[in-house]
Amino acid sequence: MLKIKNLFYKYPDGTVGLNKVCMEIPSERTFVILGESGSGKTTFLRCLGRFLVPQSGSISYYDEDIRKMDNKKFRQTIGIIFQRLHLFPHMTILKNMFLGPVKILKRDRKETEKEAYEMLERLGIPDLADNYPSQISGGQAQRAAIARGLMMHPKIMLLDEPTSALDLKTTNDFATWLKELKEETTFIAVTHDIPFAKRVAQHGICLDKGKISSSGDINKIASYMSTADY
Ligand SMILES: Nc1ncnc2c1ncn2[C@@H]1O[C@H](COP(=O)(O)OP(=O)(O)OP(=O)(O)O)[C@@H](O)[C@H]1O
Ligand SMILES: [Mg+2]
Repeated sequence: MLKIKNLFYKYPDGTVGLNKVCMEIPSERTFVILGESGSGKTTFLRCLGRFLVPQSGSISYYDEDIRKMDNKKFRQTIGIIFQRLHLFPHMTILKNMFLGPVKILKRDRKETEKEAYEMLERLGIPDLADNYPSQISGGQAQRAAIARGLMMHPKIMLLDEPTSALDLKTTNDFATWLKELKEETTFIAVTHDIPFAKRVAQHGICLDKGKISSSGDINKIASYMSTADY
């Protein structure tokens, strides 16, 4: 269970990105964050991913403050995949995948390489192993980035606009694929895509100017958003 209490983040230029956000996200459930552009969605993920330090409020995972976790434990708790996937362009997908576990978790290289292969196989993309990021499609890169993130076995994975570069069919395939993975990882996905949100999740929140404007059942949030002319 991830608990967020009164999270407040103000950028150095004075823009308030998040204004006292509170929520609880149960484990083993995909959760979506909706809201119009500039409402604070990426700011929220960046705070959860420890890229930004909130001025006040708290984020805890099973009552442990995520800010106080050491790097290794944190990386095994929360993974983040940005909209620009940040796959290393000069390394094959396989190497992209085993770098984190070897460097950060100090795992054995051979063993990790084997696990990376198995992970790609399990995720249905074994043929990507020896490709470089520039040699694969947007949808494949999205999967490869998630495969790499999963190599750290995080309890929670944050996804920022995972379908923005994908066409409708790839988005639908991706939604199916994500649902199969949710048994082991809690996904928190920021998205503009309401049909995708409805396919992958039952619950979520909508942000508006850094505050939660609605929360709970995704259908309810979506109907509220359409009446608010989102
Ligand atoms: N580095 C920054 N410095 C100052 N203000 C920023 C910075 N990054 C974002 N903001 C502002 O903070 C607010 C929230 O931005 P954020 O990027 O979280 O929005 P978002 O909901 O992710 O939008 P989008 O859907 O367009 O990605 C906006 O008003 C934005 O202009
Ligand atoms: Mg954003």
